[in-house]
Amino acid sequence: MGKYLILSVALGFALSTILVTDVFATEDGATILEARCSVCHSSERAKSKQKTPEQWEATVSRMMAKGAQLTQEEKQILLDYLSKTYKP
Ligand code: HEC
Repeated sequence: MGKYLILSVALGFALSTILVTDVFATEDGATILEARCSVCHSSERAKSKQKTPEQWEATVSRMMAKGAQLTQEEKQILLDYLSKTYKP
């Protein structure tokens, strides 16, 4: 009995961690887009587009070359978000 309890607690924890991370990633992506991608133009410029992950990677890298301020981690979260939300 004790064994199963520990197992289910561990499993529940693992599952909630996955879910929470996913929700945070989605929120962060939207937040990063608004904060970092509306400096030179409105974020609508990105939202009106539909791109594959490769195309988003190319676009975001180009924006970073122009001066968009993103850490590697933020870039990854943003790419994830853009690729999922604005896909062809
Ligand atoms: C330093 C200023 C600057 C920042 C910050 C910036 N952009 Fe841009 N962006 C531009 C300029 C200038 C253009 C028009 C010229 C071009 O397309 O290269 C543009 C064009 C675009 C386009 C239309 C062209 C295309 O390739 O589809 C998209 C989409 C875009 N930006 C997305 C983003 C995203 C996403 C971010 C945040 C990571 C961002 N931009 C941040 C300057 C910026």
